[in-house]
Amino acid sequence: MFKIAVIGTGYVGLTTGIGLANFGCSILCMDIQEDKISNLNKGIMPFYEPGMEEALKVNMACNRLNFSTKIAEGIEWAEVVFIAVGTPQGIKGKADLSAVMNVAELIGKSLNGYKIIVTKSTVPVGTNEKIKEVISSFNTKKHDFDIVSNPEFLREGRALYDFYHPDRVVVGTDNPRPVETIRRIYRPLYLNEIPFVFTDIRTSELIKYSCNSFLAMKVAFINEISRLCDAVGADVSKIAYAMGKDGRIGGKFLHPGPGFGGSCFPKDTEAMKMFAEEVNVDVSIINAIIQSNNTQKEYMVEKIKKRFARLKGIQLGILGLAFKSETDDIRESPAVFVVKRLIEEGAVLRVYDPQATENAKLVLGEKVFYAINEYDAIINADGLVILTEWNQFRNLDLLKIASLMRGKMFFDYRNIYDMAEVENSSLIYEGIGR
Ligand SMILES: NC(=O)c1ccc[n+]([C@@H]2O[C@H](COP(=O)([O-])OP(=O)(O)OC[C@H]3O[C@@H](n4cnc5c(N)ncnc54)[C@H](O)[C@@H]3O)[C@@H](O)[C@H]2O)c1
Repeated sequence: MFKIAVIGTGYVGLTTGIGLANFGCSILCMDIQEDKISNLNKGIMPFYEPGMEEALKVNMACNRLNFSTKIAEGIEWAEVVFIAVGTPQGIKGKADLSAVMNVAELIGKSLNGYKIIVTKSTVPVGTNEKIKEVISSFNTKKHDFDIVSNPEFLREGRALYDFYHPDRVVVGTDNPRPVETIRRIYRPLYLNEIPFVFTDIRTSELIKYSCNSFLAMKVAFINEISRLCDAVGADVSKIAYAMGKDGRIGGKFLHPGPGFGGSCFPKDTEAMKMFAEEVNVDVSIINAIIQSNNTQKEYMVEKIKKRFARLKGIQLGILGLAFKSETDDIRESPAVFVVKRLIEEGAVLRVYDPQATENAKLVLGEKVFYAINEYDAIINADGLVILTEWNQFRNLDLLKIASLMRGKMFFDYRNIYDMAEVENSSLIYEGIGR
């Protein structure tokens, strides 16, 4: 049973810890946030992720999964150390690598024998080489270690499922020594014939950015088509369906919406733009993705403005604040962007999200009224705006909505309703590109 330390207990670190504990490894998840670790030790999840709390408790009960803030001790205990700390957007869009480098320093100081250091955090090309340099410079006793780049591809809301059923596992090494251990750690996936991509570290780092940028491009593309549809009177749903049936294109990530958000696509496209600039490579497609996504978010506000003479004093019911359904994550959420812009325009907002309200309160404060459910959000509203595609918003009682609202506008910014059905309830439907 491998002894594995996971540093950083966020979406990626906790998923990795629970997943590897389920594979039979002995896991110590660590973080600098005392309250997070203290809650985890009581079996309390730090964020909403379907199915995770049960898996957490099962593995804790078997004593395969433990939590600590004593990171140096944890590194000394472990044979393999996973780095899963955040790499948020930093100055001028560059990835902020301070947490990764702090961890590298601590690893260097705590080495007490050969260890494999696995980077799960998304890091720009060349970062693992810097991690190696930092570890080496603090590794005064000159213990052996190897670096492995093993980027994560999970989706929030389906994190554990994705851990057990990844489309592929990418392993970047510049040295064959750690490969067999990584293979054995991921043995259950290997046995299930999940494709493994063994490559060098730089290629592995760039695979992660290429995947995220490509997916962001698909979203930005269909959003751009939706704007075109609005202008020329075509139906983006039919276009996306027909495009998706083309095996060369594929139907996934062709759903128009208020723009991509979350903790990955926005920062990773920005970071890719920055590290491409540093090596003087023109990445005009990446630049266009970022620009196009900003346009889409602002376009959501413009569509609302067009329907009212002025937004000052207009009351809107907002359904959804998370950047997508099945998560409480509001980082770079287009819903939060739209809400902030509507507040600037003077609109009065009642907002509701099934999971993200507590996080939203930290950024929106007292500027909006927090409704207790979707119907409470639209009482006396001039319009309703669906911004996140939660399942519970897909089957609203339209007649009840029409009777509770004082106005008629129904902005379906996830295109989840049938226009005729909404309009039969004497509401006025406005989707995206339909
Ligand atoms: N969230 C996703 O869907 C996702 C998917 C794939 C890859 N990633 C990448 O994985 C990395 C982690 O993302 P996340 O969403 O899990 O982040 P997160 O913000 O949820 O968690 C990061 C954790 O690291 C901890 N931390 C920060 N500095 C630390 C330090 N010095 N020592 C110990 N712990 C420290 C924080 O307290 C936090 O709990 C990022 O690079 C991200 O781009 C994220």
